[in-house]
Amino acid sequence: MLRLVIAAAIAASAATTVLAQSDVIAQRKDLMKSAGGATRDPGAMLKGEAAFDLAKVQATLATYQNVATKAPALFTDTSKTGGDTSAAPKVWEDMNGFKAAFEKWNADSKAAAAAIKDEASFKANFPNVLKNCGTCHETYRVKKS
Ligand code: HEC
Repeated sequence: MLRLVIAAAIAASAATTVLAQSDVIAQRKDLMKSAGGATRDPGAMLKGEAAFDLAKVQATLATYQNVATKAPALFTDTSKTGGDTSAAPKVWEDMNGFKAAFEKWNADSKAAAAAIKDEASFKANFPNVLKNCGTCHETYRVKKS
């Protein structure tokens, strides 16, 4: 009886492992999409296409910190391919550098959240946070045609 229970537990955990593989890819893509969505408003403010809104800017910086904190754990060894991922092999070849890039983005977002009080400080500090997106994508993401 005990042996059966154990066998069932092992089978169940094997099934969750397989599920978890494709899951982490979907989760990290969703997280990144939330970063992309959160960038829209401040991006329009930077271009002068939307009025400056401190609350929205701060919400975006909070989203960035959330993404930067949660994302690294979702690049597991078993999720290098599949799930329509655009993560480059370089993520796993240079995991330390990749994690450091997330830490830098997190720290830059935190510093900007403290520094931004008005439109002038927003324009002075926000672009620096945005540089992190392109820098990381260039190195750790493959361009899809
Ligand atoms: C430290 C690295 C890093 C930083 C910083 C980063 N990204 Fe990403 N991003 C990635 C990786 C890696 C992927 C590919 C994930 C995958 O497909 O598995 C990605 C994918 C994306 C995607 C595509 C998601 C999808 O639907 O497949 C968007 C949109 C995105 N990032 C937006 C942003 C924005 C906007 C910022 C900055 C505000 C940002 N990212 C900062 C590493 C990063």
